[in-house]
Amino acid sequence: MGGSAVISRPELTPEEVDPRVDLGGIALRNPVLTASGTFGYGTEFGPFLDLRRIGGFVAKSLTLEPRFGNPPPRIAEAPSAMLNAISLENVGVDAFVREKLPALPEGVTVVASLFETEIDRYAEAAKRLSGAPRVAGLEVNASCPHVKSGGIEFGQDPAVLAQLIRAVRRATSAPLLVKLSPNVTHIAEMARVCEGEGADGLSLINAVQALEVDVERRRPVLANILGGLSGPAIRPIALRMVWQASRAVEIPICGIGGITSAEDAVKFLLCGASAVQVGTANYLDPGVAGDVADGLRAYAARHGFPRVQDLVGQLETGGR
Ligand SMILES: Cc1cc2nc3c(=O)[nH]c(=O)nc-3n(C[C@H](O)[C@H](O)[C@H](O)COP(=O)(O)O)c2cc1C
Repeated sequence: MGGSAVISRPELTPEEVDPRVDLGGIALRNPVLTASGTFGYGTEFGPFLDLRRIGGFVAKSLTLEPRFGNPPPRIAEAPSAMLNAISLENVGVDAFVREKLPALPEGVTVVASLFETEIDRYAEAAKRLSGAPRVAGLEVNASCPHVKSGGIEFGQDPAVLAQLIRAVRRATSAPLLVKLSPNVTHIAEMARVCEGEGADGLSLINAVQALEVDVERRRPVLANILGGLSGPAIRPIALRMVWQASRAVEIPICGIGGITSAEDAVKFLLCGASAVQVGTANYLDPGVAGDVADGLRAYAARHGFPRVQDLVGQLETGGR
């Protein structure tokens, strides 16, 4: 094996472990959220999970006006993964504030996700959402094509990303997370841009751009041709990106990608994430995020960490 020995600490009971975390100004009762687009507007999951068992949830990404998604087929299976091209179908900012937020039980932490196709529209959406009661923070989904850049995602061009975060930052004083696209060469550069423009935290990663083929029909499996790959297959990519980003910035990181268990969540914390989001796994087990939260606390107790946050960045890399 080699390497330095892992410090052995006296075991604790889960109740002795403090699970709370501050994610860029968003106070969470534990570090486990659910990921945008995989958890609806929260109420749909009420029958399966007490939302107060988890740190919070990130709602489906919202635009100023309601949007319909792509035509089917828009989801498909891939090895240890799911491919989707839902294309950000949503009820729009105003209906979310008017109808979806009041339907949630008290004590649930809501992060509102937003996206648009132009920078001033992102800023307007941020302004409207940050004034809404019950919204604890915002997550800017930067994986959307920018009309003026000819379809390149906002999160793929550092200069465009900087303009976007600057404009949104001016529009709101709410805690601001930026959700980064994994479809870039240097994630650390994108992380630094966001920190420099005043983001309070980063969420990564969004789905990985992908293509799957139906050989009998000699066609792509998705009508949209390209889709976003999510689920366990992308987890090692996500861990790599979280690790690289966490070494580049001081602001906290929320790790996302293929989390199905508490052990998966621990991996993200060790790589430098302060919190995590569970996405595709919700489709297999709508209560899984609660189990991840409980299991994370149990892991910290078993390994003698008095706060779940003590696990953050504890990956032993032998000084590299
Ligand atoms: C069906 C589906 C819809 C999604 N919709 C959104 C969305 O609206 N906004 C967003 O930021 N991410 C969206 N995502 C990406 C997830 O939030 C998450 O970043 C990604 O799936 C990786 O995590 P996972 O492997 O745990 O699913 C979506 C993912 C899936 C599978």
